[in-house]
Amino acid sequence: MKNDKQLNIGLFGFGVVGEALYHILSQTPTLNAIIKRICVKDSSKKRSAPEALFTTEANDILHDEDINVIVEVISDSDAAFSIVSQALQKNKHVVSASKKMIAENIETLLALQQQYISSLLYESSACASIPVLRNLEEYYDNDLLHSLQGIVNGSTNFILTKMLEEKLDFTTALKQAQDLGFAEPDPKLDVEGYDAVSKWTEVLLHGYGIVTHPTNTLFTGIQNLNDKNVAYAALHNQEIKLVANAKKLEDGTVAAFVLPQFVEKTNPLSFVKNEYNGVLVESSIADKQFFYGKGAGGVATASAIISDLSALRYNYKYEYKKLYNHIPSQLSKNFGLKIYLSFQSLEFVAIPEFENIEKLIDEAGEKYILGTISVSNLVKNRWWKQDGNSIVVLPNGIVANTQAKIKDVKKEDIVELV
Ligand SMILES: NC(=O)c1ccc[n+]([C@@H]2O[C@H](COP(=O)([O-])OP(=O)(O)OC[C@H]3O[C@@H](n4cnc5c(N)ncnc54)[C@H](OP(=O)(O)O)[C@@H]3O)[C@@H](O)[C@H]2O)c1
Repeated sequence: MKNDKQLNIGLFGFGVVGEALYHILSQTPTLNAIIKRICVKDSSKKRSAPEALFTTEANDILHDEDINVIVEVISDSDAAFSIVSQALQKNKHVVSASKKMIAENIETLLALQQQYISSLLYESSACASIPVLRNLEEYYDNDLLHSLQGIVNGSTNFILTKMLEEKLDFTTALKQAQDLGFAEPDPKLDVEGYDAVSKWTEVLLHGYGIVTHPTNTLFTGIQNLNDKNVAYAALHNQEIKLVANAKKLEDGTVAAFVLPQFVEKTNPLSFVKNEYNGVLVESSIADKQFFYGKGAGGVATASAIISDLSALRYNYKYEYKKLYNHIPSQLSKNFGLKIYLSFQSLEFVAIPEFENIEKLIDEAGEKYILGTISVSNLVKNRWWKQDGNSIVVLPNGIVANTQAKIKDVKKEDIVELV
């Protein structure tokens, strides 16, 4: 695509993101990008754009030879995958914000990009306005990434901020996030960590060349956090955040997970409030760098889509350098986590699965364990996120090279440690 070429856009979706993009593009004629057609689901809704632009037939866009770019911002990931793969096969460039769709279909999408000349860009899908993917791809090409730590879900961060600082209850805070357009149409995707792990799947690909499905990474959201956990964090002068982690271990594998984590006040992530996102990068040459910006909302997301549209002008394609030009990393299955586990009843805590327990408190007002557990045990079992249990990873909580050896820890032994 030449620099002077007009981008004739077929837009899929006119919700929070699509509508914001439409209005920004119509007020920015210098971009030389025109939305020619918009495909939505419900033809009866009132829209803030001329009626003639709208269709409910995907083929009206996909078969239009004049449309050279598809922008896909719909809420149905199966339909999104079908639209995006058809568009790539028709040699139309695609810009998408749908992290769930991309993360769950990454292998097929990689193959399609190898097979067809068209470009698939999705910067807006990870951390909305923050240019994380392109920086991981380009800037850190030759620099060894030691670790990445991120707050990558604006809605959960918004909810936690409102709960911690304004003492709002969970439901009220979630409603506010939805009203402001930060929450996914299905709040479970945000609250239970699915959205964050999808974004982290993209980050692992561009940062480390890891091709994986979101379900291969240990994750949970903020659904089990309670007042006691918040009080514990405050007592230790820390915050609780939903943090995505990736850390290169000595054996070259990468420890990755998305879990609630205590964050010390000295960590830049502790300054990330409300719908903002932040990613802390630690690399061998550049040392520590911190990316910060709006991680949700129509305008923030549209800004990254516009950057991708602009990149199409100079034929930008992801090269997936870590995957194709370097030796790609593998996910580690053999690391442990230092955790705080709060429980309602010890009956529902699988004590023998801990590799070690430093502290166990089982009193009326306070019930928690501080200990280390292998990630493979957390992956295999669900007890730690049900029956009143919730876990929070301690700061610097990754323990490398655990042998995943389960010690026979007896309850009587542990109580003595309190
Ligand atoms: N909101 C954010 O802050 C944000 C940030 C980053 C990425 N994203 C991603 O961007 C995408 C859109 O999010 P959103 O917040 O804009 O969602 P939204 O407000 O719920 O809007 C979804 C849009 O998709 C349309 N749609 C649903 N199924 C469709 C189908 N089969 N064919 C055509 N159109 C269809 C809907 O049509 P109707 O209008 O007719 O119902 C609606 O216009 C999602 O993948 C989301 O994960 C959102």
